[in-house]
Amino acid sequence: MSHHQPIRAFSARAKGSLRGTIRIPGDKSISHRALMFGGLAKGETIISGLLEGEDVLCTAAALQAMGAKIGRGEDGLWRCFGVGTGCLKEPEDVLDMGNSGTSTRLLAGLIAAHPIHAVMTGDRSLRKRPMKRIMDPLSRIGATFSSRDGGRLPMAIAGARDPKAITYELPVASAQVKSAVLLAGLNCPGETVVIEPRATRDHTERMLRHFGAQVRTETASDGRKHITLSGPQQLQGCAIDVPSDPSSAAFFIVAALLCPGSDLRMQNICLNPTRTGLIDTLLEMGADMTIENRRDAAGEPVGDLLVRGGGPLKGIRVPEERVPSMIDEFPVLAMAAACAEGETEMRGLGELRVKESDRLAVVADGLAACGADLETGEDWMIVRGKGRPPRGGAEIDTHLDHRIAMSFFVLGLVTSDPVVIDDSAPIRTSFPNFLDLMAELGVEVFQK
Ligand code: S3P
Repeated sequence: MSHHQPIRAFSARAKGSLRGTIRIPGDKSISHRALMFGGLAKGETIISGLLEGEDVLCTAAALQAMGAKIGRGEDGLWRCFGVGTGCLKEPEDVLDMGNSGTSTRLLAGLIAAHPIHAVMTGDRSLRKRPMKRIMDPLSRIGATFSSRDGGRLPMAIAGARDPKAITYELPVASAQVKSAVLLAGLNCPGETVVIEPRATRDHTERMLRHFGAQVRTETASDGRKHITLSGPQQLQGCAIDVPSDPSSAAFFIVAALLCPGSDLRMQNICLNPTRTGLIDTLLEMGADMTIENRRDAAGEPVGDLLVRGGGPLKGIRVPEERVPSMIDEFPVLAMAAACAEGETEMRGLGELRVKESDRLAVVADGLAACGADLETGEDWMIVRGKGRPPRGGAEIDTHLDHRIAMSFFVLGLVTSDPVVIDDSAPIRTSFPNFLDLMAELGVEVFQK
């Protein structure tokens, strides 16, 4: 983990090509779930490769406040002794979820099916994000909520004394909402069913099985997925090796593609098909990338990714059904699109407006300020690249959004004028050693 103080107003330059082998930190989605399931299971769970970013540490602290024994050994392994389904303790104080939507929504699911009272809050970014999407289904299970106007944090949850299993069709493609309902379902007698119109990341389903739970996934004739879990169920503690995060790798993939002569290998990347939309998209744009050593790790497909940079990229239309499998990667894809030749058309992006920032607006404003040619609407963006990087020379307000900071950092490696990022602190939520890894590859950071 990096122990640097955050830097304000900084920019970066690539000295040359990015070459070597790096290890990207653990997957954020899988890390949250490993702690939550370990904190709920009976017996011991041993986690290697856990992402030690601020978001995941918020999950660990909240679970500790609800009775789970969780700690990091000197060997770097995390060990959990869970409370058992139905036995979460009432937290004595407000749970601070920091910047983390995943912690908030998934833990709200767990709490909703336990007879306890909890209050959640978070930072300025998280307090703007919509929670009604989980309050709706979890209320049907029997929990009651109160929150600020518009379903914003702080939010108080009175968990159900007599939780009821529900069937719920997701109104938005959201793995967080799906997971909140499934986690509640673990303590609801009867069958909990979640119906997904469009497949979202399935780490919850995979990991529940790894912890010994019975979860069924069926695809209906109309293509919708039905996920069924019967409760109550106990989870059994187990060993988990967290693979590297493809959403963190994304910044190094694009950086390597944009810097001529780059040759970068990233090992043990999670290649779950519900997460690899960016890789598919960049390959269609002409990127020179290969995958080696495909294998399975704790129920997740993984492999090594090799990226060779400098070749031409051309704009494409990203198929709308691919959006959930790359929902966190649009900011960095937009940077690649701004350097590619021709139009990159991205549609069905409404969810980007309710992430850590309004990513559609923040990306569009930042790219325009850097001299890129683009157009946006309520849920779409078209970037018109000229086959070379835009000029740069802008200052980017990250709005407490780690992916905005890292995306514009990557663009700034190749613009002629520096791209100044206002604050490096948000990067610590998901990628604490981002700047160290960039420095290892010869990237220089300058304070304004
Ligand atoms: C996540 C799901 C996605 C994603 C987030 C992590 C998860 O959010 O953007 O970074 O771990 O389930 P939504 O479920 O809101 O799409």
